[in-house]
Amino acid sequence: MSTRLDWISRPAGPLRGELRVPGDKSISHRALMLASLAEGRSCIEGFLEGEDTRATAAVLQQLGVCITAPTGGVRVVDGVGLHGLRASEQPLDCGNAGTGMRLLAGLLAGQGFDSTLVGDASLSRRPMRRVIDPLTAMGAHIDSRDGLPPLHIRGGSGLHGVKADTPVASAQVKSAILLAGLYAEGTTEVHEPQPTRDYTERMLAAFGWPITFGPGWARLDGGHRLQAVDVRIPGDFSSAAFFIVAACVTPGSRLVLREVGLNPRRTGLLDVLRAMGADITIEHLGEQGGEPVGDLRVGHASLRGIEVPVALVADMIDECPALFVAAACAQGRTVLRGAAELRVKESDRIAVMAAGMRRLGVAVTERPDGAVIEGGALRGGEADSCGDHRCAMSFALAGLVAAAPVRIRDCANVATSFPGFLDAARAAGMVVGTVPAADEALE
Ligand code: S3P
Repeated sequence: MSTRLDWISRPAGPLRGELRVPGDKSISHRALMLASLAEGRSCIEGFLEGEDTRATAAVLQQLGVCITAPTGGVRVVDGVGLHGLRASEQPLDCGNAGTGMRLLAGLLAGQGFDSTLVGDASLSRRPMRRVIDPLTAMGAHIDSRDGLPPLHIRGGSGLHGVKADTPVASAQVKSAILLAGLYAEGTTEVHEPQPTRDYTERMLAAFGWPITFGPGWARLDGGHRLQAVDVRIPGDFSSAAFFIVAACVTPGSRLVLREVGLNPRRTGLLDVLRAMGADITIEHLGEQGGEPVGDLRVGHASLRGIEVPVALVADMIDECPALFVAAACAQGRTVLRGAAELRVKESDRIAVMAAGMRRLGVAVTERPDGAVIEGGALRGGEADSCGDHRCAMSFALAGLVAAAPVRIRDCANVATSFPGFLDAARAAGMVVGTVPAADEALE
């Protein structure tokens, strides 16, 4: 991780103009992995130049794949074929990235060599049993202490297909099982309690692997081959979400976000904001590399609090921190339930957002699986992102609409998913900048 860094976000607005957010993080990870296992050369455009996705690229290079970056946002990958990866003597460092570690665990379980996956302090606290258990059921051997990283993956295990019913709705878990399934004998089938993002499935199909899937399930057989293909990655909806909320809550705003990925498994926040009264329209809806993509036109509107439908939570899981700010700016009460997964993200996002918003004068009651947020005025002050990129960017939104500046602690990890956030935010009309990290603890 980079050195510690705080931000100050000042009251400002309106937000105007047009913006392009960086490439989708989930798709960037998957494109690198599948291109590495494919036969031939793939060119990935719109690649997210974030610390998470660069960590995955570095791991794959360590495993013998030639990946070059002719320009920013582009990766050229010379695939080594399904069985062409080579052992690394050194541990493979996934940095802050849960997606990197969990998907790589599935992929490495099928190799003929041993590997060790490690991560930073935050990733080292995140639960891995959810991938260890189903992969073990497929014949993998993975050692860990208490289900936490590092993961020691023994090669040469000879995997077999399974029918897995995943206990949590997690695209990372589903993807780990499917990637192991490429190496397994027979059929691998995954069923989820709620449908999650289907990028692995779509991308496997694009790379020529026979797969059938629908919302909440996927099935494939081992023993096929991946063929190189060029990939164009759309803008990351989760990065766009900060600007969507910012424009919604800042009077006079009119913002256009260009070429945002609009896979229905990602856009739950649009449905929720519209139910709260937001003014959001989708324009130029089309398809890019098998993914729905469009422009979003967002204007300011008076929001009202709602009960967030539990069925939408999986489709907006990464946008919940930003929802806290939208809810604080709305009239009345917003209730978020069915979101216990937030507690095992890069931070405990329920606790971090509740504590930060309370410090800014918002009445928030934590629940085990969500929060109750009362709309009202935000005052200035300090909020601690606890090193969580999405909480940091959400508190920056809070500063935009607060009565006085907001200092946000520990923001360096924003580089994991959105390294150009500050520039993009300033271009849109926000007044936010860096300051040296404060040393004293928050009371
Ligand atoms: C991701 C899936 C989600 C999401 C994460 C990225 C992916 O995690 O929160 O940011 O790329 O598959 P879970 O699978 O843990 O729900």
